[in-house]
Amino acid sequence: MTGVRQPVFLDVDTGVDDAMALVYLFGSAEAELVGIASTAGNVPVRQVCRNNLALLELCGITDVPVSMGSENPLQTPLRTAEDTHGPYGLGHARLPAPTTSLTPYDAAEAWVRAAHAHPGELIGVATGPLTNLALALRADPTLPRLLRRLVIMGGAFDYRGNTTPVAEWNVSVDPESAAEVFAAWDSEVGHLPIVLGLNLTENIAMTPQLLGRLAAAAGSSWTPMSVDDDRGAASAASNPLIRVLEDAMRFYFEFHHDQGEGYLAHLHDPLAAAVALDTGLVRSRPAPVGVELTGTLTRGMTIADWSRRWGREPNALIGVDVDPAAFFDRFISRVGAFAKQLDHS
Ligand code: BDR
Ligand code: CA
Repeated sequence: MTGVRQPVFLDVDTGVDDAMALVYLFGSAEAELVGIASTAGNVPVRQVCRNNLALLELCGITDVPVSMGSENPLQTPLRTAEDTHGPYGLGHARLPAPTTSLTPYDAAEAWVRAAHAHPGELIGVATGPLTNLALALRADPTLPRLLRRLVIMGGAFDYRGNTTPVAEWNVSVDPESAAEVFAAWDSEVGHLPIVLGLNLTENIAMTPQLLGRLAAAAGSSWTPMSVDDDRGAASAASNPLIRVLEDAMRFYFEFHHDQGEGYLAHLHDPLAAAVALDTGLVRSRPAPVGVELTGTLTRGMTIADWSRRWGREPNALIGVDVDPAAFFDRFISRVGAFAKQLDHS
């Protein structure tokens, strides 16, 4: 692809679907990944850092700085989700310990540095709790104006939660940070964050069949996966990246199956990465958004005031419609081609 590459900064709690978001960006020629912030969430922040560094190394990428964020959310003790993402965050996949290092500055500073290095150009993507971004906004309140675009995977709009009956994981882990981030935007900023909640991302269901298409696009050998396979059965795919993604995805399939959702897995975070590069992949509507911080039953709930009863102006664009087939066509062609060129066997 020719043309100018768009600088992208990714904040993740890697995480199976965060890993899929990362490889989507690696495979996107129009994106220049200028930094990765690691946030505590699916697994503790040190493990998130290891996963990010190890994935970069697996993919032969040497020039993307990785920064460590806070060990804890702003005000609440950290909860992690090894039941969903596996003991180390990448499902059944195990990567060698990374040999590369983190930046000497932390993840909040990484946000601020990246925004100042690319004023008016940087696309931010957050697919974990918003702790780092909230700390970055405290350090530099001009940050929203420096960004070109921000895409957040978080919340659930007019839709049930996946962590409490009403709250989505990323917001639920650190509700105060989410509230601070939403409060930092208004129409004066010049752009509104695009927020993709479970109402949208649960339409993006990866299946064994789609994973087979991905392996084929990578030119990899593969064995069809099925709900009848032994749990944790290791991938025998010939491509090294496809092997890791299959081992990661199998755990995610098993988790979703145990939840009664079928032998499939929701790719929440890759949708955010894809929308960051092409906002046309979703239809969104502006609304004032707030985060419930005090409800005894509803803490972490995201509320969109569609009918403007609060009398406030919109502070977010909420994703309301997506074409999953268009997303998967793009995901498979990009990640497949990227994986293919990694295979030197
Ligand atoms: C979000 O929670 C995490 O477990 C996933 O990585 C995703 O970012 C979905 O609620
Ligand atoms: Ca995530």
